[in-house]
Amino acid sequence: TKPDPIPDLKLGFDSIACAKKDSVVVANGYSAQVLAPWGTPLNDMAQEWQSDGSNTALDQANSVGQNHDGMYFYPLNESSTDGLLCINHEYIQPAALHPNGPSSDPSSGLRNSAEEIRKEINAHGISVVRVQLIDGSWQVIKNDEYNRRYTAATEMMIAGPLSGHSELITPFSPTGESTRGTSNNCGNGFTPWGTYLTCEENWPGYFVNTGELSEQQQRIGISTSGGRYGWEDLAGDESEQESEFARFNVTPTGTNSLEDYRNEANGYGYIVEIDPHDPQSVAVKRTALGRFRHEGCAYGKVEEGKPISFYSGHDARFEYIYKFVSEAVWDPADADRSDRLTVGAKYMDKGTLYVARFSEDGMGHWLALTLDGETKAGGTLGDHFSSLAEIILNTAGAADLVGATPMDRPEWTTVDPISGTVYLTLTNNTKRDETNVANPRVDNKFGHIIRWNDSEASNEFNWDIFVFGAPSDGADGVNLSGLTESNEFACPDGLAFDARGILWVQTDNSGAMEVKDKTNDQMLAVIPTQLVDKDGKADIIHGDNQSELRRFFVGPNGCEITGLTFTPDQKNCFLNVQHPGNWPYSMDATAETPQGEVVRPRSATVIIRKDDGGEIGV
Ligand code: FEO
Ligand code: CA
Ligand code: CA
Ligand code: CA
Repeated sequence: TKPDPIPDLKLGFDSIACAKKDSVVVANGYSAQVLAPWGTPLNDMAQEWQSDGSNTALDQANSVGQNHDGMYFYPLNESSTDGLLCINHEYIQPAALHPNGPSSDPSSGLRNSAEEIRKEINAHGISVVRVQLIDGSWQVIKNDEYNRRYTAATEMMIAGPLSGHSELITPFSPTGESTRGTSNNCGNGFTPWGTYLTCEENWPGYFVNTGELSEQQQRIGISTSGGRYGWEDLAGDESEQESEFARFNVTPTGTNSLEDYRNEANGYGYIVEIDPHDPQSVAVKRTALGRFRHEGCAYGKVEEGKPISFYSGHDARFEYIYKFVSEAVWDPADADRSDRLTVGAKYMDKGTLYVARFSEDGMGHWLALTLDGETKAGGTLGDHFSSLAEIILNTAGAADLVGATPMDRPEWTTVDPISGTVYLTLTNNTKRDETNVANPRVDNKFGHIIRWNDSEASNEFNWDIFVFGAPSDGADGVNLSGLTESNEFACPDGLAFDARGILWVQTDNSGAMEVKDKTNDQMLAVIPTQLVDKDGKADIIHGDNQSELRRFFVGPNGCEITGLTFTPDQKNCFLNVQHPGNWPYSMDATAETPQGEVVRPRSATVIIRKDDGGEIGV
């Protein structure tokens, strides 16, 4: 059910200046509070967070993880002051996690014991946290029955085409129906039936195959030298550690998959569904939505009697944009069922996966990744794959064959609640030397945001480029959207509409120095003009969307800004500060760490509230 447009919806704050501080900066008239920083205990199994890095692996399994990313607030009883916050923990900052941090060389923070590896594994995953607004400040409710951690070791089910497939069989799961852990949970999604979607992004680097890579391992980039944090290194030191860590080494050593972990990585690369309202439930990996480096997942317009579409970008250079369309059609009664993961199975285990091709004329096509999907060479995917499961396992390889458009690193997707237009961030691509129509800048350091309207009648869509990131004083041909000092930005990443139709843009700029030298990562807001279709085609570059783009928030030095969710009354905005350098100094997110003082950095959620108690942004 789509909300009615608010006729006089306007941004009600003035753009703030660029900033480079060890504190956050937020628009005039707003305050910012730190909530649930890394290490916050969720129950009495965990000790309080220690500033010397001495917390144990057990503490970490019962505390908020590191590197907060995608996030969603689930109100309890429709409250805007009481709910469950689901937070992704994408990866770790080893120097902060272990005692040698924070000022030492990051590599010196690397651990060398099984206990420290367990702490790293437990700092990944997802937190489900009961939070309440009490006496004007938000608090984590310790020992609440809903509080829960999912880590890179938590057992999860495999559902959809790959469930029970021979290439999912491991010593842990002889039936190929389950796996252990989720990792690199970057962007997120949510569903119309009340579950949380967490997206596995840069997981391939956690697995190593020192033998010959299979075609799909090569395509997705399984490591050939060593895992990102070397978890496989201590494998075999003690017999009970064998499968706990050895599973990250997927080199075949035995004669079949019951004797080694050759298939372990095949349990990763999916959209994972979690029911935060049922702490006893088991998370489910929905394989029908494809296997790649999923950045996020957003559903399109939901209408009774029609299928549901889910959009997801593959964040790597020259990768693609995907859409999954459910076989089942939407029944509004499913919004209120208590067996939410059964509802998830109905809409997410059966359907058709597509990949996007952007054409020269402002039109695009969704290309089916099915056995009878046509390849650009003239045959079908059935000439190359023996089953849908095999296509899913090598989703990106199948997308190569059908002729999808290589993009400039697809990051988050969000859908305009009023118009149904889909927006997606293309964060940057400094390796692009040949342009295409949807990625028109060579050496795209600053990124852009693309958007489209799907056709109801066909697998076609109209699209345009909404805005290009750039420095306001960029060279000719760079600042294509005419950005000024009050809204220049680079490397859009997090992207979300609120319920009213304000679009919020978050940045993750690590290398575009023309902007980075002026400002830390930030969050901007805009009320978009509509995508205009002309003669069934859109203007490819739409001109005037950015004039009302305003800077609302700037993060502390070293961080990126990611994750966004609101309470139903739109009076509390939650965002995440990921991998800060020397922050937070106190629970007041705007308190600057004094010059010369070094704090152990903690990724954290920041809650923004308006001083007069009103709605955010207007
Ligand atoms: Fe985890 Fe693509 O950012
Ligand atoms: Ca991201
Ligand atoms: Ca990013
Ligand atoms: Ca990141």
